[in-house]
Amino acid sequence: GIDITKLRNDSGYVTYDPGFANTGACSSSITYVDGENGILRYRGYPIEDLAASGTFIETAYLLIFGELPTRSQRQEFRDLLSEQELLHEGLRHHFEGFPSNGHPMAILSAVINSLGCYHPDFTELTSLEDFHRAAAKIISKVRTIAAWSYRKAQGLPFMYPDPKLSYCRNFLHMMHSIPHKQFEPTDQEVRALSLFFLLHADHEQNCSCSTVRMVQSTEANLFASVSAGICALWGRLHGGANAGVVNMLQEIRDGETTIEKYIERVKNKECRLMGFGHRIYKSFDPRAKILRQAAHDMLEASGYDDPLLDIALELAEVAMNDPYFTDRRLYPNVDFYSGIILRALNIPVNMFPVMFAIGRMPGWIAHWNESSRASTKILRPRQIYTGLNTREYVPIDMRL
Ligand code: ACO
Repeated sequence: GIDITKLRNDSGYVTYDPGFANTGACSSSITYVDGENGILRYRGYPIEDLAASGTFIETAYLLIFGELPTRSQRQEFRDLLSEQELLHEGLRHHFEGFPSNGHPMAILSAVINSLGCYHPDFTELTSLEDFHRAAAKIISKVRTIAAWSYRKAQGLPFMYPDPKLSYCRNFLHMMHSIPHKQFEPTDQEVRALSLFFLLHADHEQNCSCSTVRMVQSTEANLFASVSAGICALWGRLHGGANAGVVNMLQEIRDGETTIEKYIERVKNKECRLMGFGHRIYKSFDPRAKILRQAAHDMLEASGYDDPLLDIALELAEVAMNDPYFTDRRLYPNVDFYSGIILRALNIPVNMFPVMFAIGRMPGWIAHWNESSRASTKILRPRQIYTGLNTREYVPIDMRL
Protein backbone atom coordinates (compact mmCIF):
# COMPACT_ATOMS: atom_id res chain seq x y z
CA GLY A 1 0.00 0.00 0.00
CA ILE A 2 2.98 2.37 -0.25
CA ASP A 3 2.77 5.08 -2.89
CA ILE A 4 6.17 4.82 -4.57
CA THR A 5 6.13 8.48 -5.60
CA LYS A 6 6.21 9.41 -1.91
CA LEU A 7 9.59 7.72 -1.47
CA ARG A 8 11.20 10.82 -2.90
CA ASN A 9 11.74 13.87 -0.72
CA ASP A 10 13.87 17.01 -0.70
CA SER A 11 17.14 15.19 -0.09
CA GLY A 12 16.63 12.37 -2.58
CA TYR A 13 15.08 8.92 -2.32
CA VAL A 14 14.17 7.45 1.05
CA THR A 15 14.80 3.76 1.63
CA TYR A 16 11.64 2.04 2.85
CA ASP A 17 12.87 -0.81 5.05
CA PRO A 18 10.32 -1.78 7.72
CA GLY A 19 12.04 -3.33 10.73
CA PHE A 20 15.42 -2.12 9.33
CA ALA A 21 16.01 -5.67 8.10
CA ASN A 22 18.42 -4.45 5.42
CA THR A 23 19.69 -1.21 6.89
CA GLY A 24 23.23 -0.93 8.22
CA ALA A 25 22.87 1.91 10.72
CA CYS A 26 26.52 2.02 11.81
CA SER A 27 29.88 0.32 11.45
CA SER A 28 31.11 -1.62 14.47
CA SER A 29 34.11 -3.72 15.44
CA ILE A 30 32.58 -5.36 18.51
CA THR A 31 30.55 -8.41 17.50
CA TYR A 32 30.38 -10.45 14.30
CA VAL A 33 27.27 -12.45 13.45
CA ASP A 34 26.86 -14.68 10.38
CA GLY A 35 23.25 -15.80 10.53
CA GLU A 36 23.40 -18.17 7.55
CA ASN A 37 26.16 -20.23 9.12
CA GLY A 38 25.33 -19.78 12.82
CA ILE A 39 28.56 -17.93 13.65
CA LEU A 40 28.95 -15.50 16.55
CA ARG A 41 32.23 -13.89 17.60
CA TYR A 42 32.98 -11.26 20.23
CA ARG A 43 35.97 -9.14 19.13
CA GLY A 44 37.03 -12.01 16.88
CA TYR A 45 36.78 -14.81 19.45
CA PRO A 46 34.29 -17.62 18.63
CA ILE A 47 31.46 -17.77 21.16
CA GLU A 48 32.08 -21.53 21.59
CA ASP A 49 35.66 -20.89 22.80
CA LEU A 50 34.63 -18.13 25.19
CA ALA A 51 31.80 -20.29 26.54
CA ALA A 52 34.09 -23.28 27.04
CA SER A 53 36.90 -21.49 28.89
CA GLY A 54 35.99 -17.88 29.66
CA THR A 55 34.04 -16.18 32.40
CA PHE A 56 31.43 -13.45 32.16
CA ILE A 57 33.73 -10.85 33.71
CA GLU A 58 36.58 -11.63 31.33
CA THR A 59 34.11 -11.44 28.43
CA ALA A 60 32.73 -8.12 29.68
CA TYR A 61 36.28 -6.79 29.74
CA LEU A 62 36.88 -8.07 26.22
CA LEU A 63 33.74 -6.44 24.83
CA ILE A 64 34.30 -3.10 26.54
CA PHE A 65 38.06 -2.72 26.17
CA GLY A 66 38.63 -4.73 22.99
CA GLU A 67 41.15 -7.29 24.34
CA LEU A 68 41.08 -10.17 26.78
CA PRO A 69 42.58 -9.00 30.08
CA THR A 70 46.00 -10.09 31.27
CA ARG A 71 45.95 -11.69 34.71
CA SER A 72 46.78 -8.40 36.42
CA GLN A 73 44.18 -6.49 34.36
CA ARG A 74 41.56 -9.06 35.30
CA GLN A 75 42.43 -8.65 38.98
CA GLU A 76 42.29 -4.85 38.70
CA PHE A 77 38.90 -5.07 36.99
CA ARG A 78 37.61 -7.44 39.68
CA ASP A 79 38.84 -5.08 42.40
CA LEU A 80 37.14 -2.17 40.66
CA LEU A 81 33.86 -4.12 40.49
CA SER A 82 34.10 -4.97 44.20
CA GLU A 83 34.76 -1.32 45.04
CA GLN A 84 31.61 -0.29 43.17
CA GLU A 85 29.14 -2.90 44.32
CA LEU A 86 27.44 -0.88 47.07
CA LEU A 87 24.65 1.56 46.26
CA HIS A 88 24.55 5.10 47.63
CA GLU A 89 22.20 5.12 50.65
CA GLY A 90 20.13 7.78 48.88
CA LEU A 91 19.63 5.40 46.00
CA ARG A 92 18.61 2.62 48.37
CA HIS A 93 15.64 4.77 49.41
CA HIS A 94 14.39 4.83 45.81
CA PHE A 95 13.29 1.22 46.25
CA GLU A 96 10.83 2.24 48.95
CA GLY A 97 8.86 4.28 46.42
CA PHE A 98 8.02 1.31 44.21
CA PRO A 99 4.96 -0.84 44.85
CA SER A 100 5.93 -4.34 45.97
CA ASN A 101 4.39 -5.83 42.83
CA GLY A 102 6.29 -3.39 40.59
CA HIS A 103 7.94 -5.18 37.69
CA PRO A 104 11.70 -5.57 38.33
CA MET A 105 12.46 -4.34 34.78
CA ALA A 106 10.75 -1.02 35.57
CA ILE A 107 12.72 -0.76 38.79
CA LEU A 108 15.98 -1.67 37.08
CA SER A 109 15.66 0.91 34.30
CA ALA A 110 14.53 3.65 36.71
CA VAL A 111 17.30 3.05 39.24
CA ILE A 112 20.03 2.74 36.60
CA ASN A 113 18.90 6.05 35.10
CA SER A 114 18.86 7.59 38.59
CA LEU A 115 22.48 6.50 39.09
CA GLY A 116 23.33 9.32 36.70
CA CYS A 117 22.02 11.84 39.28
CA TYR A 118 24.61 10.56 41.77
CA HIS A 119 27.43 10.83 39.25
CA PRO A 120 27.00 14.08 37.32
CA ASP A 121 30.80 14.07 36.90
CA PHE A 122 30.34 11.10 34.54
CA THR A 123 28.08 12.92 32.08
CA GLU A 124 30.71 13.56 29.41
CA LEU A 125 33.12 10.63 29.85
CA THR A 126 35.61 12.17 27.46
CA SER A 127 38.62 10.60 29.18
CA LEU A 128 39.04 6.85 28.86
CA GLU A 129 39.80 6.59 32.56
CA ASP A 130 36.42 8.06 33.47
CA PHE A 131 34.72 5.78 30.97
CA HIS A 132 36.39 2.72 32.54
CA ARG A 133 35.23 3.75 36.00
CA ALA A 134 31.69 4.46 34.84
CA ALA A 135 31.55 1.12 32.99
CA ALA A 136 32.71 -0.77 36.10
CA LYS A 137 30.24 1.16 38.20
CA ILE A 138 27.27 0.10 36.07
CA ILE A 139 28.36 -3.52 35.59
CA SER A 140 28.86 -3.90 39.30
CA LYS A 141 25.80 -2.00 40.54
CA VAL A 142 23.35 -3.50 38.05
CA ARG A 143 23.53 -6.82 39.90
CA THR A 144 22.92 -5.15 43.28
CA ILE A 145 19.95 -3.22 41.86
CA ALA A 146 18.57 -6.35 40.17
CA ALA A 147 18.82 -8.46 43.32
CA TRP A 148 17.27 -5.73 45.45
CA SER A 149 14.34 -5.29 43.08
CA TYR A 150 13.62 -8.98 43.67
CA ARG A 151 14.02 -8.69 47.46
CA LYS A 152 11.69 -5.70 47.45
CA ALA A 153 9.01 -7.72 45.62
CA GLN A 154 9.43 -10.58 48.12
CA GLY A 155 9.22 -8.26 51.12
CA LEU A 156 12.65 -9.54 52.18
CA PRO A 157 15.43 -7.41 53.69
CA PHE A 158 18.13 -6.26 51.28
CA MET A 159 21.31 -8.31 51.45
CA TYR A 160 24.42 -6.19 51.06
CA PRO A 161 27.03 -7.42 48.58
CA ASP A 162 29.94 -9.37 50.02
CA PRO A 163 33.25 -8.17 48.53
CA LYS A 164 34.86 -11.56 49.14
CA LEU A 165 32.56 -13.20 46.61
CA SER A 166 32.98 -13.42 42.84
CA TYR A 167 30.55 -11.57 40.55
CA CYS A 168 28.02 -14.39 40.02
CA ARG A 169 28.33 -15.86 43.52
CA ASN A 170 27.74 -12.41 44.97
CA PHE A 171 24.60 -11.94 42.87
CA LEU A 172 23.18 -15.27 44.04
CA HIS A 173 24.04 -14.31 47.62
CA MET A 174 22.10 -11.02 47.31
CA MET A 175 19.17 -12.88 45.77
CA HIS A 176 18.91 -15.88 48.05
CA SER A 177 20.76 -15.36 51.36
CA ILE A 178 18.75 -14.64 54.47
CA PRO A 179 20.06 -12.91 57.60
CA HIS A 180 22.58 -15.17 59.38
CA LYS A 181 22.41 -17.77 56.62
CA GLN A 182 24.51 -17.17 53.57
CA PHE A 183 23.31 -18.92 50.42
CA GLU A 184 26.09 -21.08 49.06
CA PRO A 185 25.62 -22.08 45.45
CA THR A 186 27.55 -25.01 43.98
CA ASP A 187 30.44 -24.33 41.58
CA GLN A 188 28.24 -25.80 38.84
CA GLU A 189 25.49 -23.25 39.55
CA VAL A 190 27.95 -20.36 39.54
CA ARG A 191 29.44 -21.58 36.27
CA ALA A 192 25.96 -21.90 34.70
CA LEU A 193 25.08 -18.34 35.67
CA SER A 194 28.38 -17.02 34.32
CA LEU A 195 27.70 -18.88 31.06
CA PHE A 196 24.17 -17.49 30.84
CA PHE A 197 25.48 -13.91 31.23
CA LEU A 198 28.39 -14.51 28.84
CA LEU A 199 26.13 -15.80 26.06
CA HIS A 200 23.89 -12.75 26.39
CA ALA A 201 26.73 -10.22 26.58
CA ASP A 202 26.34 -8.77 23.08
CA HIS A 203 24.56 -9.39 19.82
CA GLU A 204 25.29 -6.41 17.57
CA GLN A 205 22.42 -4.21 16.35
CA ASN A 206 19.42 -5.88 18.01
CA CYS A 207 16.58 -3.66 19.19
CA SER A 208 17.98 -2.79 22.63
CA CYS A 209 21.54 -2.18 21.40
CA SER A 210 20.25 0.03 18.58
CA THR A 211 18.18 1.89 21.17
CA VAL A 212 21.29 2.54 23.26
CA ARG A 213 23.10 3.85 20.17
CA MET A 214 20.06 5.92 19.17
CA VAL A 215 19.88 7.58 22.58
CA GLN A 216 23.67 8.07 22.70
CA SER A 217 23.56 9.81 19.32
CA THR A 218 21.82 12.72 21.04
CA GLU A 219 24.87 12.84 23.36
CA ALA A 220 22.80 11.53 26.27
CA ASN A 221 24.88 10.11 29.14
CA LEU A 222 25.78 6.44 29.58
CA PHE A 223 23.29 5.85 32.43
CA ALA A 224 20.34 7.27 30.47
CA SER A 225 21.34 5.37 27.32
CA VAL A 226 21.60 1.92 28.94
CA SER A 227 18.42 2.60 30.90
CA ALA A 228 16.65 3.08 27.54
CA GLY A 229 18.23 -0.21 26.42
CA ILE A 230 16.62 -1.97 29.40
CA CYS A 231 13.19 -0.63 28.37
CA ALA A 232 13.69 -1.81 24.78
CA LEU A 233 14.73 -5.24 26.02
CA TRP A 234 11.60 -5.66 28.13
CA GLY A 235 9.14 -6.69 25.39
CA ARG A 236 7.98 -10.24 24.67
CA LEU A 237 9.68 -10.37 21.30
CA HIS A 238 13.10 -9.50 22.72
CA GLY A 239 14.29 -9.95 26.34
CA GLY A 240 10.82 -10.98 27.50
CA ALA A 241 10.87 -14.07 25.28
CA ASN A 242 12.63 -16.29 27.86
CA ALA A 243 9.75 -15.75 30.31
CA GLY A 244 7.32 -16.44 27.44
CA VAL A 245 9.03 -19.78 26.79
CA VAL A 246 8.68 -20.94 30.39
CA ASN A 247 5.03 -19.85 30.52
CA MET A 248 4.38 -21.80 27.32
CA LEU A 249 6.15 -24.92 28.63
CA GLN A 250 4.25 -24.68 31.92
CA GLU A 251 0.92 -24.51 30.09
CA ILE A 252 1.84 -27.75 28.35
CA ARG A 253 3.09 -29.37 31.58
CA ASP A 254 -0.09 -28.38 33.44
CA GLY A 255 -2.28 -29.95 30.76
CA GLU A 256 -3.84 -26.64 29.64
CA THR A 257 -2.72 -27.56 26.14
CA THR A 258 -0.60 -30.19 24.38
CA ILE A 259 2.44 -29.82 22.13
CA GLU A 260 0.32 -30.68 19.07
CA LYS A 261 -2.44 -28.19 19.99
CA TYR A 262 0.09 -25.46 20.72
CA ILE A 263 1.81 -25.99 17.37
CA GLU A 264 -1.59 -25.82 15.66
CA ARG A 265 -2.34 -22.48 17.36
CA VAL A 266 1.03 -21.19 16.20
CA LYS A 267 0.36 -22.31 12.64
CA ASN A 268 -3.05 -20.61 12.77
CA LYS A 269 -1.15 -17.47 13.79
CA GLU A 270 -2.98 -17.24 17.12
CA CYS A 271 0.37 -17.05 18.91
CA ARG A 272 4.09 -17.47 18.29
CA LEU A 273 6.29 -20.34 19.30
CA MET A 274 8.30 -18.49 21.93
CA GLY A 275 12.05 -18.93 21.80
CA PHE A 276 11.89 -19.76 18.11
CA GLY A 277 12.98 -17.70 15.13
CA HIS A 278 15.53 -14.96 14.76
CA ARG A 279 15.98 -11.98 12.48
CA ILE A 280 19.55 -12.98 11.65
CA TYR A 281 20.04 -16.70 12.42
CA LYS A 282 18.47 -18.78 9.68
CA SER A 283 20.10 -22.17 10.26
CA PHE A 284 20.74 -22.27 14.02
CA ASP A 285 21.56 -19.98 16.91
CA PRO A 286 24.96 -21.04 18.32
CA ARG A 287 24.00 -19.73 21.75
CA ALA A 288 20.95 -22.04 21.86
CA LYS A 289 23.17 -25.03 21.07
CA ILE A 290 25.48 -24.22 23.99
CA LEU A 291 22.62 -23.52 26.41
CA ARG A 292 20.78 -26.70 25.49
CA GLN A 293 23.84 -28.74 26.49
CA ALA A 294 24.45 -26.59 29.59
CA ALA A 295 20.85 -27.02 30.77
CA HIS A 296 21.15 -30.75 30.31
CA ASP A 297 24.51 -30.96 32.16
CA MET A 298 23.32 -28.76 34.99
CA LEU A 299 20.19 -30.79 35.66
CA GLU A 300 22.13 -34.03 35.48
CA ALA A 301 24.80 -32.83 37.92
CA SER A 302 22.30 -31.43 40.41
CA GLY A 303 19.94 -34.37 40.24
CA TYR A 304 17.11 -31.83 39.83
CA ASP A 305 14.65 -33.19 37.30
CA ASP A 306 12.82 -30.43 35.45
CA PRO A 307 10.02 -31.79 33.26
CA LEU A 308 10.11 -28.51 31.32
CA LEU A 309 13.41 -29.56 29.71
CA ASP A 310 11.85 -32.76 28.34
CA ILE A 311 8.86 -30.78 27.04
CA ALA A 312 11.21 -28.22 25.44
CA LEU A 313 13.23 -30.94 23.73
CA GLU A 314 10.10 -32.62 22.40
CA LEU A 315 8.54 -29.34 21.28
CA ALA A 316 11.74 -28.38 19.43
CA GLU A 317 11.86 -31.81 17.77
CA VAL A 318 8.25 -31.49 16.55
CA ALA A 319 8.74 -27.94 15.27
CA MET A 320 12.01 -28.67 13.53
CA ASN A 321 10.34 -31.44 11.55
CA ASP A 322 7.34 -29.34 10.54
CA PRO A 323 7.44 -27.50 7.18
CA TYR A 324 5.73 -24.44 8.73
CA PHE A 325 8.90 -23.82 10.74
CA THR A 326 11.50 -25.24 8.36
CA ASP A 327 10.12 -23.29 5.36
CA ARG A 328 10.37 -20.07 7.38
CA ARG A 329 13.76 -21.13 8.75
CA LEU A 330 12.65 -20.91 12.37
CA TYR A 331 14.92 -22.63 14.91
CA PRO A 332 15.39 -22.41 18.69
CA ASN A 333 17.02 -19.13 19.70
CA VAL A 334 19.00 -18.24 22.84
CA ASP A 335 15.80 -17.91 24.88
CA PHE A 336 14.48 -21.39 24.23
CA TYR A 337 16.66 -23.18 26.81
CA SER A 338 17.84 -20.32 29.02
CA GLY A 339 14.71 -20.39 31.22
CA ILE A 340 15.51 -23.97 32.24
CA ILE A 341 18.86 -22.81 33.63
CA LEU A 342 17.32 -19.83 35.39
CA ARG A 343 14.64 -22.01 36.98
CA ALA A 344 17.30 -24.38 38.27
CA LEU A 345 18.99 -21.34 39.87
CA ASN A 346 15.69 -20.50 41.58
CA ILE A 347 15.23 -17.27 39.64
CA PRO A 348 11.54 -16.34 39.36
CA VAL A 349 10.07 -15.85 35.89
CA ASN A 350 9.50 -12.09 36.17
CA MET A 351 13.25 -11.72 36.82
CA PHE A 352 14.19 -13.47 33.54
CA PRO A 353 14.42 -10.29 31.43
CA VAL A 354 16.38 -8.66 34.26
CA MET A 355 18.89 -11.51 34.05
CA PHE A 356 19.17 -10.86 30.33
CA ALA A 357 19.78 -7.15 31.04
CA ILE A 358 22.62 -7.90 33.49
CA GLY A 359 24.24 -10.09 30.85
CA ARG A 360 23.74 -7.57 28.03
CA MET A 361 25.16 -4.62 29.97
CA PRO A 362 28.79 -4.99 28.73
CA GLY A 363 27.54 -5.03 25.13
CA TRP A 364 25.45 -1.88 25.59
CA ILE A 365 28.35 -0.12 27.29
CA ALA A 366 30.77 -1.13 24.53
CA HIS A 367 28.34 0.14 21.86
CA TRP A 368 27.73 3.40 23.73
CA ASN A 369 31.48 3.97 23.85
CA GLU A 370 32.06 3.05 20.22
CA SER A 371 29.22 5.27 19.13
CA SER A 372 30.28 8.21 21.30
CA ARG A 373 33.84 8.13 19.95
CA ALA A 374 32.82 7.81 16.29
CA SER A 375 31.90 10.96 14.42
CA THR A 376 28.33 9.81 13.85
CA LYS A 377 25.36 12.03 13.22
CA ILE A 378 22.29 12.04 15.41
CA LEU A 379 20.24 8.99 14.39
CA ARG A 380 17.08 10.12 12.74
CA PRO A 381 15.24 7.76 10.36
CA ARG A 382 12.78 9.10 7.79
CA GLN A 383 9.21 7.95 7.19
CA ILE A 384 6.80 7.55 4.33
CA TYR A 385 3.89 9.82 5.19
CA THR A 386 0.53 8.15 4.52
CA GLY A 387 -1.79 10.71 6.18
CA LEU A 388 -4.13 13.32 4.73
CA ASN A 389 -3.07 16.27 2.60
CA THR A 390 -3.52 19.88 3.77
CA ARG A 391 -6.93 20.58 5.29
CA GLU A 392 -8.60 23.80 6.20
CA TYR A 393 -8.76 24.51 9.97
CA VAL A 394 -12.35 24.79 11.28
CA PRO A 395 -12.74 26.97 14.42
CA ILE A 396 -14.37 25.14 17.38
CA ASP A 397 -17.67 27.12 17.28
CA MET A 398 -18.16 26.12 13.66
CA ARG A 399 -17.72 22.39 14.31
CA LEU A 400 -20.63 20.07 15.15
N1 ACO B 1 6.51 -18.67 15.86
C1 ACO B 1 5.73 -18.75 14.78
N2 ACO B 1 5.93 -18.09 13.64
C2 ACO B 1 6.98 -17.28 13.58
C3 ACO B 1 7.85 -17.12 14.68
C4 ACO B 1 7.60 -17.86 15.85
N3 ACO B 1 8.38 -17.78 16.91
N4 ACO B 1 8.82 -16.23 14.35
C5 ACO B 1 8.55 -15.86 13.09
N5 ACO B 1 7.44 -16.49 12.63
C6 ACO B 1 6.86 -16.40 11.28
C7 ACO B 1 6.06 -15.12 11.11
O1 ACO B 1 4.72 -15.30 11.47
C8 ACO B 1 6.27 -14.87 9.65
O2 ACO B 1 5.42 -15.76 8.94
P1 ACO B 1 4.66 -15.29 7.59
O3 ACO B 1 5.74 -15.09 6.58
O4 ACO B 1 3.71 -16.38 7.28
O5 ACO B 1 3.96 -13.99 7.94
C9 ACO B 1 7.69 -15.33 9.37
O6 ACO B 1 7.95 -16.33 10.37
C10 ACO B 1 8.72 -14.23 9.49
O7 ACO B 1 8.54 -13.62 10.77
P2 ACO B 1 8.92 -12.13 11.10
O8 ACO B 1 8.10 -11.68 12.26
O9 ACO B 1 8.88 -11.30 9.85
O10 ACO B 1 10.44 -12.29 11.52
P3 ACO B 1 11.30 -11.23 12.27
O11 ACO B 1 12.70 -11.42 11.81
O12 ACO B 1 10.71 -9.86 12.13
O13 ACO B 1 11.14 -11.63 13.80
C11 ACO B 1 11.49 -12.57 15.94
C12 ACO B 1 12.12 -12.21 14.58
C13 ACO B 1 10.88 -11.31 16.57
C14 ACO B 1 12.59 -13.08 16.86
C15 ACO B 1 10.42 -13.64 15.72
O14 ACO B 1 11.00 -14.81 15.18
C16 ACO B 1 9.64 -13.96 17.00
O15 ACO B 1 8.66 -13.31 17.29
N6 ACO B 1 10.06 -15.02 17.75
C17 ACO B 1 9.40 -15.36 19.00
C18 ACO B 1 9.87 -14.43 20.11
C19 ACO B 1 11.29 -14.74 20.50
O16 ACO B 1 11.69 -15.87 20.71
N7 ACO B 1 12.08 -13.66 20.62
C20 ACO B 1 13.48 -13.75 21.03
C21 ACO B 1 14.38 -13.37 19.91
S1 ACO B 1 16.07 -13.57 20.30
C22 ACO B 1 16.43 -12.31 21.37
O17 ACO B 1 15.81 -11.29 21.46
C23 ACO B 1 17.56 -12.54 22.21
